[in-house]
Amino acid sequence: MDFNRKHLLGLEGFTREEISYILDTSESFKEVLSRQIPKVPTLRGKTIVNLFFEDSTRTRISFELAEKRLSADTVNFSASTSSVKKGETLRDTARNIEAMKIDMVVMRHAAAGAPLYLTQCVDAAIINAGDGQHEHPTQGLLDLMTLRTKFGSLDGVKVAIVGDISHSRVARSNIYGLQALGAEVGLCAPPTFLPYQAEQWNVEIFHNLDEALEWADALNVLRIQLERQEKGLFSTLREYHNLFGVTRERLERTGKDITILHPGPINRGVEIESELADSECSLILDQVTNGVAVRMAVLYLFSGLQKQAELKEKSK
Ligand code: CP
Repeated sequence: MDFNRKHLLGLEGFTREEISYILDTSESFKEVLSRQIPKVPTLRGKTIVNLFFEDSTRTRISFELAEKRLSADTVNFSASTSSVKKGETLRDTARNIEAMKIDMVVMRHAAAGAPLYLTQCVDAAIINAGDGQHEHPTQGLLDLMTLRTKFGSLDGVKVAIVGDISHSRVARSNIYGLQALGAEVGLCAPPTFLPYQAEQWNVEIFHNLDEALEWADALNVLRIQLERQEKGLFSTLREYHNLFGVTRERLERTGKDITILHPGPINRGVEIESELADSECSLILDQVTNGVAVRMAVLYLFSGLQKQAELKEKSK
């Protein structure tokens, strides 16, 4: 297909065809990762900077690994050890980095819209690795890939997102991506953890976890993002776990096989029972594995190389 997007800022507005194409490309790269030498020369000569202004374990390592598997040259930037500490602006940081001939920027930032702002400052392709409470598109894509592998097709599959939805960029990317692929989306949370007018997303809303479990085929369980909220949205972690914690006992009561996803990091014993997170119904580590393949696909498709190859083919 003609893939004309330059930046990946979020999944909002992506079509079913575009998302399916990224996931199909991810499957090809997953095959590469299963080889004895899991490396291809696809991005040889391209330079990518990983610009992380906020902490990360999975996303950062996954992008770095994807870049190495594609033979790109990579540079890592941490706000905590950079001149940002001396007062340098985001624009100046980005323009200085670009002056070193960077092709792509992978960016995580605490402010929603920071990657969009960067597209106005530099010519490089920008990949959003999570911006504030806005979107985390590669997390959304790897969740979709994991669910598509499990269910074959997402048409009609009921996925409940459980937890701190109002502060979650993962929830937003999941909602847009799941709906584009034909899934039904439910949101399960206390009212204080749901954004204003959440029903405008055309989703089922649950304030009772057992009702959400009766409805769902799969759960995407989110942690409480204490770093993004003021006090008073819930009383205690213990009470939250009693009301909204996903446990094996609760799942067994439904008599159904419900698939569990979690984007990480997990707060064991709060949003999910520790033993359940490691159980046979959990696809949490599959998500992490798929993350590398998804990020390889994203880096390739947004590098512009595929477009150049198509134009060359047409001109023959
Ligand atoms: N899922 C996710 O974004 O994890 P990190 O914050 O560790 O990157």
